Amino acid sequence: MSDYLTGFGGHFSTEAVPGALPHGRNSPQKPAFGLYAEQLSGTAFTAPRHENRRSWLYRMRPTADHPPYARYDGANLFAPGTVGEPLPPNRLRWDPPELPAGTDFVDGLVTMMANRDPADLTGVAIHLYRADRSMERRVFVDADGELLIVPQAGALRVRTELGLLELAPGWIGVVPRGVKFRVEVDGTATGYVAENHGAPFRLPELGPIGSNGLANARDFETPVAAYEDVDGDHEVVQKYLGSLWSTKLDHSPLDVVAWHGNLAPYRYELARFNTIGTVSFDHPDPSIFTVLTSPSETPGRANADFVIFPPRWMVGEDTFRPPWFHRNVMSEAMGLIHGAYDAKEGGFAPGGLSLHNLMSGHGPDVEAWRKASEAELKPHKIDNTMAFMVESCWPYRPTRFALDRAQPDYDACWADFPKAELPR
Ligand SMILES: [Fe+2]
Repeated sequence: MSDYLTGFGGHFSTEAVPGALPHGRNSPQKPAFGLYAEQLSGTAFTAPRHENRRSWLYRMRPTADHPPYARYDGANLFAPGTVGEPLPPNRLRWDPPELPAGTDFVDGLVTMMANRDPADLTGVAIHLYRADRSMERRVFVDADGELLIVPQAGALRVRTELGLLELAPGWIGVVPRGVKFRVEVDGTATGYVAENHGAPFRLPELGPIGSNGLANARDFETPVAAYEDVDGDHEVVQKYLGSLWSTKLDHSPLDVVAWHGNLAPYRYELARFNTIGTVSFDHPDPSIFTVLTSPSETPGRANADFVIFPPRWMVGEDTFRPPWFHRNVMSEAMGLIHGAYDAKEGGFAPGGLSLHNLMSGHGPDVEAWRKASEAELKPHKIDNTMAFMVESCWPYRPTRFALDRAQPDYDACWADFPKAELPR
């Protein structure tokens, strides 16, 4: 078990060896034990104070000490680029695709869709992963964005430069842009990764909800400092400007002995989400379920919102309770961790994915619509389910891998709605 510091975006101080952390100085002339002081900046130096994210790391060797990177070709389905041809305005859905077997977390990453170019410092990509074995003597680092990991099956031990993040289905973990990590598994682990190229995820504003509710800051957990003092060959795989690169070190780079700051990995248990919904009538917009948001430069228009559909009571009177039919200027990628999503009776399996892009008409399938329209409206608990959405202001483009595997008959779930009958 690891120890965690609690609170979202707190200014933490942690040392794995007493005396490693300097006090009153970020970079003393000689840090303790011959450690190297290194700043990791997740926002521009001059970002407003409430948005500014940076940490000071005290490590056994500086990151700068590495030979040149060369192209890495061990993960052919990770970041291959998206399809270049015109994208038809069709809704897309996937059964859990067969992913490469026998791989570790990095080689088992498969990109399903992405928008924008990582070099624009905006946009988001959706990947699936399957890890059958632990990463050994190698780490991964993503210069293109922070990684929001959503386990679907199997636990992960994410050993980062700043400490150990233990994840299991029902939890999410976030590794900041530029933080090296390796992933250990026991058996097979699968899940989703949202790679956020834009502003770091933060908690959404609560507006009239008040000072409590949705994801509460105190429930976020950041690991305490933990380091590896391991010499010998190590590989660093880096995602950089949309492609993968590799270099060799003669030691583990997870050698940060102490750190302080507010740029750090964190985890959150989705069951702690305080779900808020209607207690009178009408189905609120799904923004009410936002766990984390990455804002774009346009106020209120997210580069990426991470939204969940957790167990909750439905009590609205004279209300169609599942998500209604709609078309959205935002683009919606959805995944399912377990259970069933209330707008789809079948066809959307845990580990699967759907994409409702820019202005695509979507909503409940015929069966869900019929049931919800005729149900007796007594209070009803939706239970044993956890779906999520990564909603972005930028339309997604699928990869070739994804486009070739989309369900051929997804449109059929919206066929055969009866025509409304007007009075004559
Ligand atoms: Fe939607």
